[in-house]
Amino acid sequence: MPTLTARARGRSVVARLTVREKALERRMVRSLDQVEERLLVCVGEASGPILPGAVRHLVAAGGKRLRPLLTLLGAEFGDPGAAGVVDAAVVSELIHTASLHHDDVMDEALIRHGVASVNARWGNSVAVRSGNWLLVKAAQMSADLSREAVPLQAEASERLVRGQLRELVGPDHEGDRLQHYFEVVADKSASLISFSLRLGALQSGAPDGVDTALAQYGEHLGVAFQISDDLLDITAPSWQLGKEQGKDLAVGVAGLPVLLVLDAGRPQDEELRTLLSEPAGLDGARRGRALALLQRSEAMGQTEAVMAERLAAARAALAPLPRGAGRRALAALCDVVASRTE
Ligand code: FPP
Ligand code: MG
Repeated sequence: MPTLTARARGRSVVARLTVREKALERRMVRSLDQVEERLLVCVGEASGPILPGAVRHLVAAGGKRLRPLLTLLGAEFGDPGAAGVVDAAVVSELIHTASLHHDDVMDEALIRHGVASVNARWGNSVAVRSGNWLLVKAAQMSADLSREAVPLQAEASERLVRGQLRELVGPDHEGDRLQHYFEVVADKSASLISFSLRLGALQSGAPDGVDTALAQYGEHLGVAFQISDDLLDITAPSWQLGKEQGKDLAVGVAGLPVLLVLDAGRPQDEELRTLLSEPAGLDGARRGRALALLQRSEAMGQTEAVMAERLAAARAALAPLPRGAGRRALAALCDVVASRTE
């Protein structure tokens, strides 16, 4: 059975995007239900030892289903009922899930989507290989979609890997920390968000120019989305996030609030700066103290302002798109990202 959690979450987001747009709401809910069913069918094709359980694990635990939702919204600019649109949405979620398998290995994460991470349950070797299987499955499905699907998927996957590795290595010079952050975030987060939108537009036969406008929108929305993730890592409890709070601090990854604290050099942040300058990351008590100091630092408001700028840029990028329910839903999505709680 498809998870109620993923369905319920998808429906609540759709409801916020489609206020007074009942036809769009019905279409999105129906298609998201099909995505849930096909995702489970797809991971059900895994065979042999361990793999069937490992590839089903996070899919069944349910996520926000943001990427398939974006693919379906991209398809609103063409024929949303066109063949392959639902499969394109499945491809977006499979790539995302593959990247989470790998990300949780890199971050030594214990919890994902409110359940044990794949690496915590089966170990790193299984998590990486089952992530590879999901990526290969996505490639197989893409081969049956529009002719642009495979090269676009390759490009998005390449950017995901590059972003993660650049995050791992850090900037060449300390002074480039902010620029480095935005480049990493564009690659590790915005690439797949942008891809998901474009894939939907191309699969639905949307008019020329739509996919490039959606790509622009997706690049800005994706950066804003990652900034909201950085904020939630500091403010939201683990039960709400479905993953550990303060994980970025634990593994020594600097999100935007941390970078802004380090950059500003305010005297009142001295204790926080000392804690944050620990390259190996922070353990229990020191992490708790850093989180408490971060939560009341000026950097939180500044981070929200940067996120708001990116969301304004995303809204502006919608201008070349045809007016209609799809465009209004994408504008509403900016408000949903601004007020994320999970
Ligand atoms: C989450 O970042 C991570 C990503 C959005 C991208 C992960 C990409 C890879 C591991 C490269 C491999 C890619 C493929 C396609 C297999 P985060 O750690 O900031 O977010 P989190 O808090 O949700 O963990
Ligand atoms: Mg992570």
